[in-house]
Amino acid sequence: MEKVQVFIVGAGPSGLATAACLIKLSIPHVVVEREDCIASLWRKHTYNCLKLHIAKEFCELPLMSYPNDSPTYILKDNFLRYLDDYVMKFNISPKFNTSVESCMYDEAGNYWSIMAQDKVSGKTSHYASKFLVVATGENSAGNIPDIAGLQSFHGEAIHSSSYKCGSDYVGKSVLVVGSGNSGFEIAHDLAIHGADTSIVIRSPVCTQFVDIIFYSQICCDIEPIFTLFIVKFHVMTKELIHLGMILARWRLSLILVDFILVLLAYLLFGDLSKHGIVRPHMGPLLLKAKTGRSAVIDVGTTKLIKKGDIKVFGPISRIRGNLIEFEDGNERYYDALLFATGYKSTANICLKKDMSMLNSDGLPKNEFPNHWKGTNGLYCVGFARRGLAGIAHDAEIVASDIQANIKMTLFD
Ligand SMILES: Cc1cc2nc3c(=O)[nH]c(=O)nc-3n(C[C@H](O)[C@H](O)[C@H](O)COP(=O)(O)OP(=O)(O)OC[C@H]3O[C@@H](n4cnc5c(N)ncnc54)[C@H](O)[C@@H]3O)c2cc1C
Ligand SMILES: *[C@@H]1O[C@H](CO)[C@@H](O)[C@H](O)[C@H]1NC(C)=O
Repeated sequence: MEKVQVFIVGAGPSGLATAACLIKLSIPHVVVEREDCIASLWRKHTYNCLKLHIAKEFCELPLMSYPNDSPTYILKDNFLRYLDDYVMKFNISPKFNTSVESCMYDEAGNYWSIMAQDKVSGKTSHYASKFLVVATGENSAGNIPDIAGLQSFHGEAIHSSSYKCGSDYVGKSVLVVGSGNSGFEIAHDLAIHGADTSIVIRSPVCTQFVDIIFYSQICCDIEPIFTLFIVKFHVMTKELIHLGMILARWRLSLILVDFILVLLAYLLFGDLSKHGIVRPHMGPLLLKAKTGRSAVIDVGTTKLIKKGDIKVFGPISRIRGNLIEFEDGNERYYDALLFATGYKSTANICLKKDMSMLNSDGLPKNEFPNHWKGTNGLYCVGFARRGLAGIAHDAEIVASDIQANIKMTLFD
């Protein structure tokens, strides 16, 4: 059994940020990763045209900024390069191909007993650690809804995490299910590459957000009645979201910022309800703060919807072979189905539920800002649905909490 002070599960942005903060405090730790690279979600399970949706100053990990000459909205490859540089700078060396299978707290010995499996040799190894940081991500498994008749579909039916590029679908009819950022972006990518593209939008579309930590605190004292004045709209441009984040930094009221954003969006896009896009009752920032759902940032999809290049349908009622039936009575044949229907956390699989700080969905039971700490030296980083800004915040706070408690450890 190998003894370590801090055991970190996962080498995505959350695990790496935590490791960097611990290194700065000279606290020994181990990072294990089930895949053979860092940031496997970004490297292997995202589409080619992906960019960060939020301006770079809101997407930094602790202790390192993006290069000055990098664009405001970082491309996927540049983000991966930033993470590679981050690992080099702090000399982080994760143990790859190692999947954590179970973590149990040993009450008698006061340590976490961790079992991990080498994915190549199949061998199991055991660790004992005083602190355990779960950084396995909110997005560790694709979520595909249970739709009647899905098994009867003959074409390709995949989750957005397996989608790469629209050029694989030229001339095919493709139905994108889901109208969050991935759905809107993939529909756009398919349509510009010449696929006959449709999208399922279950109204109201979830509006997007902004990841500013203090929003959720501010929004507690906001009267819902104000939101009634907000004009009908929900799709934002990235510039609008950027503006909103800057206004919010000045500590303008969330409702006022939302009002400005929605008004500007309305002027830019007009009323989209006749195209099947209906705004939720809350403005984008309030919605993010209250529900964790993010605003859709338009990459040109709405223009293609208005032109009719992307068809909009309501919810699916059932699937019969390649015929998709919609709840409103429409039906249409498709060659491929693309589920941009979000992700699930799998943190519960390694962290036994009964003693964990997580609920049955693998997310923290306590709400932000009390989401990051459990009992007996257990922590979660990257589970506050606040993107990279939230990850940076969690990593810093967890590392300094470990530092404050390390005097009492077993293994020092
Ligand atoms: C398509 C997409 C776009 C996004 N765009 C933005 C954006 O523009 N701005 C923003 O702020 N946020 C964005 N996010 C949200 C968030 O920033 C990313 O999801 C980010 O990668 C989360 O980092 P993480 O380290 O918490 O999780 P992950 O990146 O998922 O990393 C977790 C790691 O843990 C490993 N792991 C899981 N289980 C185990 C196990 N049992 N044992 C060992 N290793 C394990 C996984 O292999 C993975 O490498 C986006 C998310 C997605 C999915
Ligand atoms: C991880 O496993 C892959 C094969 O699945 C192998 O190519 C790679 O070299 C391994 N990496 C490490 C660091 O063991």
